[in-house]
Amino acid sequence: MKNQIEQLKRAKNAVILAHYYAPAEVQEIADYVGDSFYLAKIAKQSNADIILFCGVQFMGESAKILSPNKKVLMPDLTADCPMAHMVAYGVIEEMRAKYDDLAVVCYINSTAELKCKSDVCVTSSNAVKIVKALPNKNIFFIPDHNLGSFVAKQVTEKNIILNDGCCPIHAAITASQIKLEKDKHPKALVLSHPECEAEVLALSDYIGSTADIIAYANNSKATEFIVVTEDGVDYKLITDNPNKHFYYPNPHPCCADMKLNTPGAVLSVLEKEDKEVIVDEDVRKRALLPLERMLELAK
Ligand code: 13P
Ligand code: SF4
Repeated sequence: MKNQIEQLKRAKNAVILAHYYAPAEVQEIADYVGDSFYLAKIAKQSNADIILFCGVQFMGESAKILSPNKKVLMPDLTADCPMAHMVAYGVIEEMRAKYDDLAVVCYINSTAELKCKSDVCVTSSNAVKIVKALPNKNIFFIPDHNLGSFVAKQVTEKNIILNDGCCPIHAAITASQIKLEKDKHPKALVLSHPECEAEVLALSDYIGSTADIIAYANNSKATEFIVVTEDGVDYKLITDNPNKHFYYPNPHPCCADMKLNTPGAVLSVLEKEDKEVIVDEDVRKRALLPLERMLELAK
């Protein structure tokens, strides 16, 4: 299957992008593996004719928005991020009416329609930097209340209004699960994703995006880590650090949508080119503005 995928990729000038939560076998065959920010930048820069995005809908959509002349395919178009939809209808307009000086800051884990209503996008790796750089005092942070409150703790000079959305996978991780792992592995450092609840983040030694967690473990002198994010990151962590030990909350956090990106689905879509990401051109143009502003402010 790996050889067939390689041949098709070359014949069609296709490039495979995979998120760290995609299955290990897919990360193994991908040309680029990374966090949401890195993959968005790669999608914009790529010279390929086809981008095959092994992630969830908002990632494929962002790739198409940033690279409209490329064909963007996904192994499974139903792979979606539930949090991307978690903003109540009309609430953005209500907030804009309430505050004159409001910036709607939209986590990239959101639908293209939500991006259209926003002033700037952020990812977990640049949210603090971008919110700090905005001239606005009042910030409506959508959809993730956990990433929003993580940002609020570090940008105390702003009024950050939170929205009632979350990642069901990260929000399900409890402080007692982390305490249990800490009891079993007292020397381990706790590395968490900011989509986790505040009581989990309070037990953490380091908080960052998937790529930041991996970089932290790679550069650390410590040899044991409790990794508090989706367990797809394990592939890169153990590849880069064969002598270090990585533990996860029990049960392992697992995003079923990310796991729809199987090698069989990758091969099938490369053969048939039948699962194409389509974004309405008017929506695309409006959603491009906050994404480009993110790329600019994150520089
Ligand atoms: P990052 O890889 O950008 O940290 O995002 C995590 C995530 O949940 C993506 O869906
Ligand atoms: Fe969405 Fe959470 Fe899955 Fe990431 S891990 S894609 S935020 S549901």
